[in-house]
Amino acid sequence: MLLKTSLLSVFFCCALNFAGLAQVQTTMGQVTFKFGVTQGGLPQYEVFFANKPVIVPSRLGVTLQDGIRLDSNLILTSVDSADVDESWKPVWGEVNQIRNHYRQIRFQMQEKNAPNRLLTIVFRVFQDGVAFRYEFPKQPNLRYFVVTNESTHFNLSGDHKTFWIPGDYDTNEYPYTISRISEIDNTHLVQTSTAIAVRVAPDPFAVQTPLMMKSNDGLYINIHEAALINYPAMQLHVDHQSFQLSANLVPDAYGNKAYLHAPFHTPWRTIIVSDRATGILASRMILNLNAPSAIENTSWIHPMKFMGVWWEMQTGKSTWNYSDFPDSTDGNGQLIPNNRHGANTANVKKYIDFAAKNGIRGLLVEGWNTGWEDWFGNWKENVFDFVTPYPDFDVKAISSYAASKNVSMIMHNETSGSATNYERQMDTAFRFMKAFGYTAVKTGYVGKIIPRGEHHDGQWMVNHYIRSIEKAARYEVMIDIHEPERPTGLQRTWPNFMACEAGRGNEYNAFSDGNPPGHETIMPFTRLMGGPMDYTPGIFKLKGYNSAVPNRQVHTTLTKQLALYVTMYSPLQMAADLPENYQAHMDAFQFIKDVPVDWDDSKYIEAEPGEYITTARKEKGQPGWFVGAITNENSRIAKIPLAFLDPGTSYIATLYEDAPDADWKDNPESYVIKQFIVTNKKSLVIRLAKGGGAAISITPATALQLKTTPLLKSAVND
Ligand code: NOJ
Ligand code: CA
Repeated sequence: MLLKTSLLSVFFCCALNFAGLAQVQTTMGQVTFKFGVTQGGLPQYEVFFANKPVIVPSRLGVTLQDGIRLDSNLILTSVDSADVDESWKPVWGEVNQIRNHYRQIRFQMQEKNAPNRLLTIVFRVFQDGVAFRYEFPKQPNLRYFVVTNESTHFNLSGDHKTFWIPGDYDTNEYPYTISRISEIDNTHLVQTSTAIAVRVAPDPFAVQTPLMMKSNDGLYINIHEAALINYPAMQLHVDHQSFQLSANLVPDAYGNKAYLHAPFHTPWRTIIVSDRATGILASRMILNLNAPSAIENTSWIHPMKFMGVWWEMQTGKSTWNYSDFPDSTDGNGQLIPNNRHGANTANVKKYIDFAAKNGIRGLLVEGWNTGWEDWFGNWKENVFDFVTPYPDFDVKAISSYAASKNVSMIMHNETSGSATNYERQMDTAFRFMKAFGYTAVKTGYVGKIIPRGEHHDGQWMVNHYIRSIEKAARYEVMIDIHEPERPTGLQRTWPNFMACEAGRGNEYNAFSDGNPPGHETIMPFTRLMGGPMDYTPGIFKLKGYNSAVPNRQVHTTLTKQLALYVTMYSPLQMAADLPENYQAHMDAFQFIKDVPVDWDDSKYIEAEPGEYITTARKEKGQPGWFVGAITNENSRIAKIPLAFLDPGTSYIATLYEDAPDADWKDNPESYVIKQFIVTNKKSLVIRLAKGGGAAISITPATALQLKTTPLLKSAVND
């Protein structure tokens, strides 16, 4: 329901800190927002939470080519507001219903002087923060234009603690640094992150969004963007002295930012704020700022768990490439096999058997198509054709075998950054998927982008990823994109956009120094704010999996790997390890079999970025709950009141816990499994090892279980 309200509902006030403004103020819950235009014609805004400053007076506006400045010398010509309070149901997600409740205020402005170009800034004030975007109305004196930058500032009230990765134009795959704003400098991290294929971060003081911060007065603040379409990604330049963050847009080959045609509006800039860390995780603002589903019939979209002929390549047991030679044919024109090729028919069938036996619905196979001998690094345009299998991969036999076992094949289309090549082949690639029964595709963009000079996060590529999502939707294929720009909630509009990578996944533990134990306690506050990640949890063999680098290890315990299925929400969730490593721990694998990928409800029980997160989620359409608790390098006690359970029902809780002697470094695979009868009156108190975690499934108890399972005695709430 859209309620048009009069200007009277927006409280006009005269008490702003900055002088001479046309002022508007409005409050939603604990969030107060102020806007004004200074006498010099500068649009400025402020945000408060519970009367504490979140954003102190900060400039807004956009600058265009040919010296056009829509950030100063503006006059406010009209203000209107509307209240919206509606609910909608996502096709899949962390909850089954989302409330979208905000006050929208539109400030229409124009240049003081001829040619009096128009710019509108639209704000939405929510109870969990503020969002705004620029709109360029249709107008005679601004038709086609080029954005050179934004004058969007986020002036902070102090030297906040921040959780950041470098503002790199081509990658989000860095580990996080925790530091004060005044200490941010990405130079060393960019230089030393050699495991990342392409790194372009010219500004040492730029960081990526979502940027998570905590103020000294206890506010949790998250800055990001929503609905990034036909525009480059926004990064933030940090000023050490003033604590000012300013928007930096990813450029194209010419240094320009965006090529636009009015009418146009930019993505939303989002400021989410709470006095609790869990309030940030519970925010749905970014999804709410995206348009409703563009896909009418969504019956073919099905969240699923999947396995992959994948980790064995990541860890060096087998290869993506069929041959070890870049010019991979012998004198007779035959490919020369290296006999270590992972995507061979017999091996794929082994995975299909294991997945089918254990109710894992999907199977990804990488390295199945020709081209991997020189797949990236040469900035070569035509590497893959996406339809030609290697000689040992019998696509027809594999597809019918998978279908006979009810396993859904997941296609892999690595582009090695050659988006032009993929654009040309996409229809052919999707037709091939349909012909062989693939229901989902994982795409990838490792390497420097072609068109040459473009970046992964620039306007051209942002549009390319969306074209691939739309194309996939037309063929009714779900998509998981690796190496795109970080997500901004577009999965609301295209619910076939199940997940993407755009962050440092578990795979870094396979081929680099890996992810530190605190990594996954930061990701839900940063990378995951915009949408699900294909993080690839579920590694059970945590040490000694790479024979070439024997001391390599994953920086978690085994039960923390289980907990990640709850902590790191995704409707496509990989069981990433090898079948034989699961065979060794089938009791623990039971949790992966049971845990759902689609939820009715989610409760964020306790959290602190960089330290710990405990999440409880209720399975969609079922009475069962699943809990994941994780910690960083410190061991800790997780306290989990079970008040979210239905009163009057007895449940059986299966706890997968770190054993007393477990820790991520020396003894990561040591765990215990316990069962208790619990009710909503009880609390679980669980010790998490260093780098550890706990996973719990809670389902209504049967009469037999009630008889045979002990009651939880300790930690009673009543
Ligand atoms: C990088 C992706 O993140 C990874 O999952 C994939 O296996 C390789 N590229 C090869 O495409
Ligand atoms: Ca990657």
